[in-house]
Amino acid sequence: MSEERQSAPKRLFIETYGCQMNVYDSERMRDVLAPLGYAPVDRPDDADLVVLNTCHIREKATEKVYSEIGRLRLHKERRAAEGKSTSIVIAGCVAQAEGEEIIRRAPVVDLVVGPQAYHKLPELIARTARKTGERLAADFSAQEKFDALPARAPDGVTAFLSIQEGCDKFCTFCVVPYTRGAEYSRPVADVLAEARALAEQGVREITLLGQNVNAYHGEGGDGFADLLGKLAVIEGVDRLRYMTSHPAEMTDDLIALHGDEPKLMPFLHLPVQSGSDRVLKAMNRKHDGAYFRDIVGRLRDVRPDIAISSDFIVGFPGETEKDFDATMTLVRDVQFALAFSFKYSPRPGTPAAAMMAQVDDAVSAERLHRLQAELFEQQRAFNAAQVGAVLPVLVTGEGRKAGQKHGRSPYLQAVHFDDTRARVGDLVPVRIVSATQNALAGARAEADVLA
Ligand code: SAH
Ligand code: SF4
Ligand code: F3S
Repeated sequence: MSEERQSAPKRLFIETYGCQMNVYDSERMRDVLAPLGYAPVDRPDDADLVVLNTCHIREKATEKVYSEIGRLRLHKERRAAEGKSTSIVIAGCVAQAEGEEIIRRAPVVDLVVGPQAYHKLPELIARTARKTGERLAADFSAQEKFDALPARAPDGVTAFLSIQEGCDKFCTFCVVPYTRGAEYSRPVADVLAEARALAEQGVREITLLGQNVNAYHGEGGDGFADLLGKLAVIEGVDRLRYMTSHPAEMTDDLIALHGDEPKLMPFLHLPVQSGSDRVLKAMNRKHDGAYFRDIVGRLRDVRPDIAISSDFIVGFPGETEKDFDATMTLVRDVQFALAFSFKYSPRPGTPAAAMMAQVDDAVSAERLHRLQAELFEQQRAFNAAQVGAVLPVLVTGEGRKAGQKHGRSPYLQAVHFDDTRARVGDLVPVRIVSATQNALAGARAEADVLA
């Protein structure tokens, strides 16, 4: 506890929805609010400040925000009856997209703040306390945001590091270019400094984040592969990952690096969305099915064990049974280690929402069901294929029982294993003895040599 803090700490609860970008941003919000005397708590009950870090990607995600605001209104009223005041802040992509509407619909909300304004939170919160009547901060300056937000490692040995924000791709279904603004890449020197600071604090595995992380073109470097190379020489950084990538940005040097750089983990999340060239074109994805297959083939040539993960949308406007079959064929041809699949959700202001031939919900639901059955089977098969192997596992925590540990495989699988010697942060050989759809289990291998 800092000495200048006389009063009891105020309780801060942040609820995070959506992607890793939001997870990272929530951490940064905790950091900037700490000097104001806010200590994070795990439950909203009795929190003095509640932040909802929201996601706008699909309709359901957005609806959740409004129902959550309803719950928070009761929380605020209950505390008011006890003579306590509560501040409610809406942050994230819904704040950016629908800020005005939230202000209008939800008087209980004290402040609406978009993703590029988090560094101003202390000042904004002080202002709302003074009741100036200003409740919306949703301007766009990713650079100002990164410059002002301090980096701090979370407690563990793995960390996110945001290097790029925003998107210029304008896929016709997607709100991200509108909620996160134009692509912005942080300067190389800033990224390296943050990575060094993380390593010094004990972080062993860094996942670089960006909406189009492989489109990174920060000042002081030569693109994304060059940045990865510079990060790989930092002492203490044992493992590097990145997400999310766009297939059109998988450059030759980046593909080659997957074969040459052992710190670059053999796992790649590469969203394809559909296997139909007609649909991919209507989505404005800038690649076709053959191009995606080619990228995956070249990655497997240089790194045969690389695990490929992806995102899919079914029921995009105009998708026929034939288009959907092309998606199923691509899935069977490529074989994914992991995948996320969604029913298309029309988003206000996006070109696809105005397209004719929206697909009937029941049809989309049935296709999603078929696609997921195949994808889940592939995920189980990928995990089952590790049984018998010895994998280098990064220990991320202690299990509930003595001698149990959990960690991460190179392929981003959760691994639970028995080991009395290992400490959090160690990289240990683990023999895999069983697998489920979501995790591996095993025991420390005798040999200290990693496979
Ligand atoms: N920047 C990443 C991911 C963006 S959002 C990329 O380029 O792929 C994460 C996933 O949500 C997308 O890959 C897509 O599969 C899904 N998604 C985005 N908009 C959607 C919508 N309107 N309806 C359904 N799924 C959507
Ligand atoms: Fe959205 Fe497409 Fe940009 Fe990904 S690349 S964030 S799906 S617009
Ligand atoms: Fe959602 Fe915004 Fe991420 S819309 S997926 S939180 S960039």
